Amino acid sequence: MSTEKDSPGDEDQLQAQRERELTDRVLASWAGTSDERLAQILNSLTEHLHAFVREVRLTEVEWTRGIEFLRAVGDVTDDKRQEFILLSDVFGVSMQTVTVANLAVGDATEATVFGPFFVDDSPRIEHGGDLSAGASGQPCWIEGTVTDTVGAPVPGARIEVWEADDDGFYDVQYDDGRLAARGHLFADEDGRYRLWGLTPTPYPIPHDGPVGALLEASGRSPMRPAHLHFMVTAAGKRSLITHIFVRGGEFTDSDAVFGVKDSLITDFVEQTHQLPTPDGRDLAGRSWSRVRFDIVLADDAP
Ligand code: BEZ
Ligand code: FE
Repeated sequence: MSTEKDSPGDEDQLQAQRERELTDRVLASWAGTSDERLAQILNSLTEHLHAFVREVRLTEVEWTRGIEFLRAVGDVTDDKRQEFILLSDVFGVSMQTVTVANLAVGDATEATVFGPFFVDDSPRIEHGGDLSAGASGQPCWIEGTVTDTVGAPVPGARIEVWEADDDGFYDVQYDDGRLAARGHLFADEDGRYRLWGLTPTPYPIPHDGPVGALLEASGRSPMRPAHLHFMVTAAGKRSLITHIFVRGGEFTDSDAVFGVKDSLITDFVEQTHQLPTPDGRDLAGRSWSRVRFDIVLADDAP
């Protein structure tokens, strides 16, 4: 009489059957989910998580280490530090979510990661104003236009710009709570904007926590290439969250969070101190740089 364990082949089959049955039982347990989208997410997540465990033959010790790792990620997370977002960033999940959400539309400017350093109440800057507010770095003249995908200007578009100082710190990482190297302005009637900022420099993502340890264990660098953050919003247009990166700068091929897109690599042109500034500003003998970033907004999805 044949039993469950007639041959090694039968045992493999039995094992596979038990593993599949467990996955199916969990899938069935979500059957009462009334929100269709939630049901889709729970089912797909279950399939992928179970497939992962089965494929790598995850051991119980490894599972425990994974849980301890997630606990450590939670332990360092507070209202100033979001280690879970960093974890998502270094797995490229944040960037994949951005990519899925921002369908390609004509020449619309590509989006990239938001990052953890945006704040809502940035100062308003007049055209030609300076967002640095005392943050250290080389002055950089930033100018461009905001248009739609057929080239019509988008007057009044709100343009938020934020960046790190040349020590690699955002103001929210300072101890004294001051706002610096961030601001917003509105495109003029021709869709143009211009302001002074700082020439961006590369900096590391926070890497003194469990995500940093993960990067270290895998021989990966925590560095991000030099970039300026932009968020551009206008009525009837798809909101754009993006950066521009410095062409020829370090780390554009190895961004720790996979945010670089070729279309966002931009010329920051070095200017000697002898060259007059576009607005006649006196830079007291300092060199400066300039960059042009023409922003194209897609229409809001109907
Ligand atoms: C940033 O560019 O500000 C950033 C993005 C992802 C993780 C950490 C920092
Ligand atoms: Fe940044």
